[in-house]
Amino acid sequence: MIGAYFLGNKTIETRPLNLPEPGEGQVLLRVCACGVCGTDVHIYEGGKGSADVTPPVILGHEFSGYVEKIGPGVEGLQVGQLVTVDPNIYCGKCRPCRQGQKQMCHHMEAVGVTMDGGFADYCLAPYAQCVAVPENTDPELAAMAEPIACCLHGIDRVGIRPGENVLVVGGGTIGQIMLQLARNAGAAKVVLSEPVEKRRQLAVALGADAAIDPINENINERLQDILGCEGADVVIECVGNPRTSAQAIDAAARCGRIMLFGVPHPEAVLQTKMHPIFQKELTIMGSFVNPDTQSRAVALIASGRLKLKPLITHRFPVSQLEEAIRMQMGPDSIKVLVVTEG
Ligand SMILES: NC(=O)c1ccc[n+]([C@@H]2O[C@H](COP(=O)([O-])OP(=O)(O)OC[C@H]3O[C@@H](n4cnc5c(N)ncnc54)[C@H](O)[C@@H]3O)[C@@H](O)[C@H]2O)c1
Ligand SMILES: [Zn+2]
Ligand SMILES: [Zn+2]
Repeated sequence: MIGAYFLGNKTIETRPLNLPEPGEGQVLLRVCACGVCGTDVHIYEGGKGSADVTPPVILGHEFSGYVEKIGPGVEGLQVGQLVTVDPNIYCGKCRPCRQGQKQMCHHMEAVGVTMDGGFADYCLAPYAQCVAVPENTDPELAAMAEPIACCLHGIDRVGIRPGENVLVVGGGTIGQIMLQLARNAGAAKVVLSEPVEKRRQLAVALGADAAIDPINENINERLQDILGCEGADVVIECVGNPRTSAQAIDAAARCGRIMLFGVPHPEAVLQTKMHPIFQKELTIMGSFVNPDTQSRAVALIASGRLKLKPLITHRFPVSQLEEAIRMQMGPDSIKVLVVTEG
């Protein structure tokens, strides 16, 4: 039994894991698969997660596992059951928590960020964070519940109405999920902007109506040709840089809604013409993590409505987490999973 401990300063060390006994309200999970997220990459490089990180800690917040042992006071879970973990833990007592805005919690903790997570053979998790996965669901797909849950919160906020046209900017894991969710929400046309050809092709295979190369094509002209109108009703930015965010705002139709979903560098500054925001009555918004959407993500995975298998491009054992992180950073991967050998 091993765990990949993040020690800070771009260092990860595989260490033996003492099999912990689950305490009050905890379950011990035998991890199946844990996705490498952009956030793990940010943390590895010295940035912040959804909360502050204090090494040594086992990262990994996108995972599925089988319940191995149940602690006192745990209800509704059985040994052997497959679950996913909603990593974000809210205090329930602060002002935002009491106002229906738990994702703004002043005391947020997160499994795989502030406490040991899924890059290990086993993980202790609060049972209240576990969502049971229907039988016969592929555990690797179940490991994608957290990123899907984040996307659902973004989709809920931007509110796609049937018949609207949607542009997704950025075709990594998140963009490829977003375009499928937009399609499921009833979008008339879904278009992706993405520089990597393989990712454009994948998007079309997954249901996008067209894909634009933002480096060699004029995005707005192509978009107008494809949609037959001035711009997209909804634009979802899934890159997180100032240029693509400005492009997203620029590509919106009158009364358009722009979801800036990508996580920018903390110092990044957005430069955009202000007049169109006034004249086109644009709405620009953000989205933070996955409040109350993990169960819907699991239901969607189990329904088979999302094509997720093609997004998983690489698998690494726990002992090769650094290789997995490097692969996730490169252009050849979409979603890299760390998988246990059990
Ligand atoms: N808001 C949230 O709760 C939340 C949750 C999860 C992830 N995120 C963020 O969403 C973003 C996307 O996540 P991901 O895992 O797909 O990241 P990723 O890095 O795998 O994907 C980004 C994609 O953008 C593409 N890209 C680069 N330049 C571009 C350009 N000029 N125009 C269009 N596309 C361009 C890249 O080729 C890549 O395919 C990240 O910033 C991530 O941190 C946000
Ligand atoms: Zn994540
Ligand atoms: Zn709170």
